[in-house]
Amino acid sequence: MSEENKVPIIQFRNVSKFYPPHTYAVRDVNVAINSGEFVSIVGQSGTGKTTLVRLIIAEEHPTKGRVIVGGWDITNIRHGDIPLLRRQIGVVFQDFKLLPRKTVRENVAFALQVAGAARAQVREVVPQVLAIVGLETKMDRFPHQLSGGEQQRVSIARALVHRPKILVADEPTGNLDSINTREIIDLLVKINELGTTVLLVTHNRDAVNSLKKRVITLDQGIVSSDKQVGRYVL
Ligand SMILES: Nc1ncnc2c1ncn2[C@@H]1O[C@H](COP(=O)(O)OP(=O)(O)OP(=O)(O)O)[C@@H](O)[C@H]1O
Ligand SMILES: [Mg+2]
Repeated sequence: MSEENKVPIIQFRNVSKFYPPHTYAVRDVNVAINSGEFVSIVGQSGTGKTTLVRLIIAEEHPTKGRVIVGGWDITNIRHGDIPLLRRQIGVVFQDFKLLPRKTVRENVAFALQVAGAARAQVREVVPQVLAIVGLETKMDRFPHQLSGGEQQRVSIARALVHRPKILVADEPTGNLDSINTREIIDLLVKINELGTTVLLVTHNRDAVNSLKKRVITLDQGIVSSDKQVGRYVL
């Protein structure tokens, strides 16, 4: 694709987030992420990585600047429109946030049910997303009957139920050993290859270096580096 044809799916324009009395969580961030990209966000603890995630899903609003997702300026998004935004963005966290008394199938189905999906849609989509993450044979297990890596794969499946254009993963491998980490990163690459834009916040040096994809580095809230084929340098 030529440069002109690339469509920015996420734009931060001069974005600052200030927490009184004296913390700039992010400051003057200018970043455009194109549809289909796989971008890693790295930086020391407390440098604003999660703040960027929270701005994208409108869990926070910028103090200054504009945040645009899929051409939609969400800077001052109305509260009632937030669910519509969230359906376009799958989010995965370090702690898997699974419901312990629900099976794998039920955990994934629940994300559709709360959004008001029809039963037929639930029946169709749940096995599809569980197949993408390779858990079709473990649909009837409970979270405590799964490994950490498998639990994270359930949470990734859950993040995919609305067929989001964007998948944001905030330290998804933070609780995993190196083998499970590798599997989760490979899964994120596969999801990206299926057409989803992926944003990966991570502290994992090996993962970032092996990806050979774009890396944005934050330093005390400021983008200190943004490289198309980046490395983990802190
Ligand atoms: N709700 C809040 N109120 C006040 N300060 C906050 C709030 N959320 C974040 N901060 C501050 O903003 C800065 C950036 O926090 P953020 O969570 O974005 O960092 P991070 O890069 O994700 O760190 P980590 O790698 O530890 O997860 C930190 O100094 C943090 O203390
Ligand atoms: Mg964080």
